Amino acid sequence: MKNLFRKKDIAAVLRESEDNNSGLHRTLNVRHLVMLGIGAIVGTGIFVITGQAAAMYAGPALTISFLISAIGCVFAGLCYAELASMIPVSGSVYSYSYATMGEFLAWFIGWDLILEYLFACSTVSIGWSGYVVNLLNAWGLHLPEHLVHATLSHTGGEWLWSGSIINFPAVFIVALVTTLLLTGIKQSALINNIIVVVKVAVILLFIGFGLSYIDVGNWVPYIPQNTTGEFGHFGWSGILRGAGVVFFAYLGFDALSTTAQEVRNPQRDMPRGILISLAICALLYIVVTAVLTGMVHYTQLNVDAPIALAIDKVGAGLAWLSPLIKLGAIAGISSVVLVMMMGQSRIYYAISKDGLLPSIFSKVNAKRGVPQTATIFAGCLTGLIAGLFPLDVLSELVSIGTLMAFAIVCISVVVLRKTHAHLARPFKTPLTPFVPLLGAAICMLQMAALPWHTWQRLIIWMLIGFAVYFIYGRRHSHLNKQ
Ligand code: ALA
Repeated sequence: MKNLFRKKDIAAVLRESEDNNSGLHRTLNVRHLVMLGIGAIVGTGIFVITGQAAAMYAGPALTISFLISAIGCVFAGLCYAELASMIPVSGSVYSYSYATMGEFLAWFIGWDLILEYLFACSTVSIGWSGYVVNLLNAWGLHLPEHLVHATLSHTGGEWLWSGSIINFPAVFIVALVTTLLLTGIKQSALINNIIVVVKVAVILLFIGFGLSYIDVGNWVPYIPQNTTGEFGHFGWSGILRGAGVVFFAYLGFDALSTTAQEVRNPQRDMPRGILISLAICALLYIVVTAVLTGMVHYTQLNVDAPIALAIDKVGAGLAWLSPLIKLGAIAGISSVVLVMMMGQSRIYYAISKDGLLPSIFSKVNAKRGVPQTATIFAGCLTGLIAGLFPLDVLSELVSIGTLMAFAIVCISVVVLRKTHAHLARPFKTPLTPFVPLLGAAICMLQMAALPWHTWQRLIIWMLIGFAVYFIYGRRHSHLNKQ
């Protein structure tokens, strides 16, 4: 029993973070981090989910949903920033908890992070597949039906064969990104930078041209009335449900913390990277939503490509912008896959370094500075899941897994201020414990609002994690050998 709570020596973790012989290359600065942050955050959320959430839950008031969700994320982001500046290692929350709360809890959190990055990456790859198929269809190129859908479908509580072989485009983007990641972090960061410039440019073009086509009549009423009496369908409850749904759009900033060992000055740059990228994205999201719901009445926005739809509705004047928007979305979503996949491989790397996963996952390719096996493994697993499973099942799991990780991060900040008060904190979460506790409460409330079957899947995932730990991790842990 005592073994479950054995802790890594915090001084050893800090030494590890300063270890320039880890094989990982310290090349990233704050600009790279902001670019990686925007690369990880802006994707399916803004290009797909915004329209659906406005049409089904909040109408034009989805801007308020984005604001509420941003507040929860900024609180969690401030807590991430404090921990990442205090213990800048690639394992993110997993490593922070290993040194402070013990092995079992660290494993629990690490396993939860694997869930988040694995399933988020798969979900976003499926979103990418949808956009690509849509664009190819518009160009008259039709991929066979049995190659564009998930192999399995989940109907009436049962798993059935959908009739499709595999979602080929989803597997393709995962394979492409994995290959890129294997070439090294610097190359990956460079491609990410190019993609981010393209996607932000596309969004700014949309805002710039869209502004003059706003019909203010579309914003009236700004908060559509809840006429059914059902929770979550417009009115203030709709705004709240909308906030839970668009939470997905902010996901990704936390993946930045897994690159801490590849940042030149993590203590200074990590908090800045996290907070600046979150602020830029929140601003972009709120403005895009305002323009979108001003251009098209919210009732018409329940489509796969709402931003492209808004441009198409304007008519010939902006016809040239529509394919650009679709291409921008496709490029933009690829960078989300890139950063999430990178986060996933860094978590395997960190856990394996402690012996809780086989040591092969922490082997770093000497020339490229990449955890090679961890990256290939992450690619294969993500590709398989993205090819086999439907999007809705995966995305709900992502939300619950991430909310749990954020809640734990917020609570950890408060606990560590008490138990490790002496540790240097280059960045401090303001108004502690108020901000972290409120952050944890917002996350837990959103978790509570998720359906029971999502909870069941989370419990199954965690039980598998416990089995892996008790069969393998506990015995092979380096702390056990010591
Ligand atoms: N925030 C990411 C997206 O919206 C996950 O695609």
